[in-house]
Amino acid sequence: MKTTIMIVDNLSSNQSRYAQAVDLLIKGEVVAFPTETVYGLGAIATSEEAVAKIFEAKGRPQDNPLIVHIGSKEEIKAFTRDIPKLAEVCMDMFWPGPLTLILPLKTDSLAENVTAGLQSVGVRMPEHKVALELLKQLKQPVAAPSANKSGKPSPTMAAHVYHDLEGKIPLILDGGTTGIGLESTVLDFASEIPTILRPGGVTKEMLEKVIGPVGEAKPTDHDEAPRAPGMKYAHYAPDSPVYLIEDSIEKVQEAVEKIHNEQKKVAVIASESFNEVKVDYFFSLGKKDQLNDAAHLLYQALRACDETDVDIILAPVLSKKGVGTAIMNRLEKAANGKWFHS
Ligand code: TXA
Ligand code: MG
Repeated sequence: MKTTIMIVDNLSSNQSRYAQAVDLLIKGEVVAFPTETVYGLGAIATSEEAVAKIFEAKGRPQDNPLIVHIGSKEEIKAFTRDIPKLAEVCMDMFWPGPLTLILPLKTDSLAENVTAGLQSVGVRMPEHKVALELLKQLKQPVAAPSANKSGKPSPTMAAHVYHDLEGKIPLILDGGTTGIGLESTVLDFASEIPTILRPGGVTKEMLEKVIGPVGEAKPTDHDEAPRAPGMKYAHYAPDSPVYLIEDSIEKVQEAVEKIHNEQKKVAVIASESFNEVKVDYFFSLGKKDQLNDAAHLLYQALRACDETDVDIILAPVLSKKGVGTAIMNRLEKAANGKWFHS
């Protein structure tokens, strides 16, 4: 299959491009598109065959459910039921935006492979002109996970999608680099208090200001059933191993020297303040303590490592304040919890 990339940054002259994307989706094909978080790989959420193509293209485990994207709030009535009051408040405050709500699923309303057979469904309205235009023209809910090969960092540019899925999908809508750079916050309303299953751009503090106490799912033990089904799989991982390390230039320099003594090559992913470290590859996460920049640059940096011959990747830990919680959640997964000890 030939994969076409179509640039859609200028809405007024792009109508025929949206029409092609809508056509493909209606025919039961998959289309990659930008959102404010990361690129998604979409299919019509009511078609089992179309949704199956998402799992096929990504190599995604069947038991990991997808997020349903909508272009207007009215659409949720068709596939959810008994929406809690606090969920309504979240929709009014944070949609469109990087917040996915897990709500009770209306029976027989969506293709079963969207929700992996669960009685709940994740929904969000993205805050991106391309995603919203596509959804508004289509007028149907779109199931869309991140448009990466399963296990790899999510794509923040059309080129990342092309790299992972070339030959496997017909179309990528290219709307430039995504803004936030990390996936949406996933908030579950099935538990006693609303619980964050995956931290993201909408932080715990932001939610608590609006709906009161919010819980956080702890990373699960391996044999326990995961709260967010996706929690149990390897994620965001470059080809070479990632190690977390203390936020200290000296400690990182020491570690680099030790690894060099073993004739291995090292990459460091860190804020610019680390660029004096003598290392084989350095990928910047922007100015120190600018967490929004770090979120924006993280996946690009993890992916850049795969274009090198590096043996080990070191990532000094960042603050867990605000969006730092989401950044560290992704880095901990990329490292699979490993720390570098000298
Ligand atoms: O920002 C985003 O959320 C991006 C863009 C494309 O919208 N999408 C995204 O999708 O990150 P994905 O499939 O990569 O991640 C979806 C996460 C997974 O961790 C999955 O387990 C969880 O949401 N999830 C989906 N439906 C769920 C449900 N019914 N119950 C619990 N967790 C669910
Ligand atoms: Mg994903």
